[in-house]
Amino acid sequence: MAILGIDIGGSGVKGAPVDPARGELLDERYRVPTPQPSEVSSVVEAVAEVAGRFSGYDRVGVTFPGVIVDGVVRTAANVDPSWLEADAAKLFAQRLGLPVAVLNDADAAGVAEVAFGAGRGQPGLTVMLTFGTGIGSALFLDGILMPNTEFGHLELGGVDAELRAADRAREVEDLSWEDWARRVQTYLRHLEMLLSPQLFVIGGGVSKKADRYFPLIDVRTPMVPAALLNNAGIIGAAVTAEQAAGHAGPLTVDAAHAGAPRS
Ligand code: BGC
Repeated sequence: MAILGIDIGGSGVKGAPVDPARGELLDERYRVPTPQPSEVSSVVEAVAEVAGRFSGYDRVGVTFPGVIVDGVVRTAANVDPSWLEADAAKLFAQRLGLPVAVLNDADAAGVAEVAFGAGRGQPGLTVMLTFGTGIGSALFLDGILMPNTEFGHLELGGVDAELRAADRAREVEDLSWEDWARRVQTYLRHLEMLLSPQLFVIGGGVSKKADRYFPLIDVRTPMVPAALLNNAGIIGAAVTAEQAAGHAGPLTVDAAHAGAPRS
């Protein structure tokens, strides 16, 4: 069964049909720029544009760069505030006419890495981190996701960690790899102190350049770059939509019932 995975990011909305059993894209992904401002109705239309590019899928998984509880957006650090408290699952299901599962972007990337990539078969606690516009996090115990951890907003040097150590900080402040790696190291040591994980999986666009900064970071926890790169969010969204299909879980909103009040 093909499931459409869509990844809403700071600069692009990307999607492709996915084989959730193999964790593989079934077609070339299609990308449209994320509307600016990224307010609700224009992002819903961007998602519909990506979805309209493909056919032959019967449910959809969508990632969102904020906390998602029961399909509802609870935080919007790097997207338009109109998303706060928006019922994203219902909005997408109504627009696409199909069941939709929505989850946090880093959680989706982590789900894919744990199922098919760098975190596969890893026992105990695994922390996936995505370094991009913000810092996303996903926590797994024996491969099971604890959603919405938001470790990017831990305080580091008196400010939100992602403001200092996200890849955007490196770019905006024009930091050398050494300077940025020092910040990332401080951040990872803080996480180690709190969680004692068995593995860090490092994702986000910057994971492609792991050879530039991995050797500069000294932490006790083994650290590996993400394996699925740009496609992790799309794949993780589709896998989650498939899991939600098996049981009428809280992540999925059926389009037919999307207008009905929540029970
Ligand atoms: C958001 C997270 C998101 C991360 C990466 C953070 O600012 O709070 O929910 O996962 O950025 O997009």
